[in-house]
Amino acid sequence: MSSSWGNQIKLSIFGESHGPAIGVVLDGLPAGEPLDLDVLLSFMDRRRPGQNRFSTPRKETDAPHILSGFYQGRTTGTPLAVVIQNSDTHSADYAQMSSVARPAHADYTGYLRYHGAQDPRGGGHFSGRLTAPLVAAGGIAKQILARRGVVVGAHIFSVGCQNDLPFDPVGLTAEELAAPGQKTFPVLDAKAGESMQQLIESCRMAQDSVGGVVECGVIGFPAGVGSPIFDGLENRLASLIFGIPAVKGIEFGAGFEASRHFGSQMNDPFRLENGQIRTTSNHHGGILGGISSGMPILLRAAFKPTPSISRPQETVDFQKMEPTQLSIEGRHDPCVVPRAVPCVEAATALALLDAWMEKIE
Ligand SMILES: Cc1cc2nc3c(=O)[nH]c(=O)nc-3n(C[C@H](O)[C@H](O)[C@H](O)COP(=O)(O)O)c2cc1C
Repeated sequence: MSSSWGNQIKLSIFGESHGPAIGVVLDGLPAGEPLDLDVLLSFMDRRRPGQNRFSTPRKETDAPHILSGFYQGRTTGTPLAVVIQNSDTHSADYAQMSSVARPAHADYTGYLRYHGAQDPRGGGHFSGRLTAPLVAAGGIAKQILARRGVVVGAHIFSVGCQNDLPFDPVGLTAEELAAPGQKTFPVLDAKAGESMQQLIESCRMAQDSVGGVVECGVIGFPAGVGSPIFDGLENRLASLIFGIPAVKGIEFGAGFEASRHFGSQMNDPFRLENGQIRTTSNHHGGILGGISSGMPILLRAAFKPTPSISRPQETVDFQKMEPTQLSIEGRHDPCVVPRAVPCVEAATALALLDAWMEKIE
């Protein structure tokens, strides 16, 4: 079951980009949790397309309709179903895609996997649009975690070679985590954000696209949650974050950089602070042996450049088995990273809530 996930919370995402609707069913949520629907909508708004020239001009309201599992402002504990209508579909733009493979997209592999029965319009079930239900589910998880003092936030860490400032790995605060999400372009350093926006704009003008990295941080998550070997926090976080299309890498704490250093530089010394065990640095990113250490959890997800670019590209018609050229029409994000920021927050919140519920169940 490729589109279902979770141990304690069962998450199931359905729909296609140009079908009537997309949505999610969340089973196993704690009962009696108040949900603020205005907060949920403004979280989903951060991912919504068509808001500026850095995202696809596709216009969708992305209003979540909760069909079940929510009564008198609180979760009931029974399956919570959310549906989001698709309205602004231009399926004619994708007429070619049923047999001409977009380089770097899933048209060819999806055709192989489902023997041609898949819905190719707008990328079908493989579309970035399917992150809307993920963000709805994650927005609910974020509220449940926030009530328990756990704060999740993310920002654009880089676009191409332009870098933002990193989160403070030791002294990370709720204000620092919340600040990027309040901006239209979610960065910590406004100047860095301007350079990134210029780069995205120049790619758009050149009929090209660019990739980047999202950094996510979490504070207030209790120490001692998670399991070793195959069910650690890193495993679960990676499994959900790789469910976001265009993610090609993930690192925790110092990540790949740690491999270029010595143990004496990367080991985080333990110390006592007000009777609590902390570390003086946080190269481990808040996770040791798959289990939370009580330090801020820090991860970075790498996104490739958007596959659909309007420059002519070499490809193959896989039904005719002929080489051909493709000039992609339609509406696409020149860089998926700004809209991916709430997606990474959502996936992180869901993975951590799932792990935590296992401990308290
Ligand atoms: C928020 C978001 C928006 C996206 N928008 C587009 C888009 O406009 N055009 C496109 O070709 N790919 C877009 N993608 C990426 C593709 O969906 C993805 O690259 C494709 O499904 C292949 O999957 P893979 O890159 O994970 O292998 C988007 C991804 C995300 C997360």
